[in-house]
Amino acid sequence: MKLSLVEEVHRRLKQEIGPGDLCLDATAGNGFDTLFLARQVATEGMVHAMDLQRDALRITQSLLERHGLENYLSTYQSCHSQIDAVLPANSKGRIRAVTFNLGYLPKGDKSIKTNTITTLKALRHAYDWLQEQGMISVLCYVGHPGGRTEEQSVRKLIEERGWKSETITGNDSKESPILHWIEKS
Ligand SMILES: C[S@@+](CC[C@H](N)C(=O)[O-])C[C@H]1O[C@@H](n2cnc3c(N)ncnc32)[C@H](O)[C@@H]1O
Repeated sequence: MKLSLVEEVHRRLKQEIGPGDLCLDATAGNGFDTLFLARQVATEGMVHAMDLQRDALRITQSLLERHGLENYLSTYQSCHSQIDAVLPANSKGRIRAVTFNLGYLPKGDKSIKTNTITTLKALRHAYDWLQEQGMISVLCYVGHPGGRTEEQSVRKLIEERGWKSETITGNDSKESPILHWIEKS
């Protein structure tokens, strides 16, 4: 059976991250990616989780508490374009993996969604904060207004920067989500 792109991200990350690693979930949302990352990095690592919405971070925090993983979580209510301003400076150059799951919070306020300008700024900073051989997953949804432009801009940024990357599409439909998998070399 074909994996969903979220499952594909987790499958890939599972091969790359482990106990003691430092990771960043740049779009915490309902906390599923954060929970996955925390499971991999416990019992010595840490996951920084960012989201614009306080409610998203509350949901994420309580999900990790239910799984006994809250000690491996730091939350930041902020736009992810502000990585430089809000993450602890000693994380710079040490982050093993960053996840971006773009768009809006499912079942939440659809007007609060990622946008091209801040997504590109966040991606540039995230790449700077990665360790060598670190990775970024960017899961783009093209079926909502602005989503297609955002995905195309991400693609263009990757090309302009000459980042090592792979593009994976979810299914054959025109509105299939698109995953950009970036590796720092
Ligand atoms: C598709 S959801 C993320 C799903 C999440 N990774 C999960 O596992 O449940 C996108 C999230 O991005 C957040 N978001 C939108 N714009 C943002 C921004 N500029 N900075 C940080 N978070 C943002 C939204 O509030 C929303 O919670």
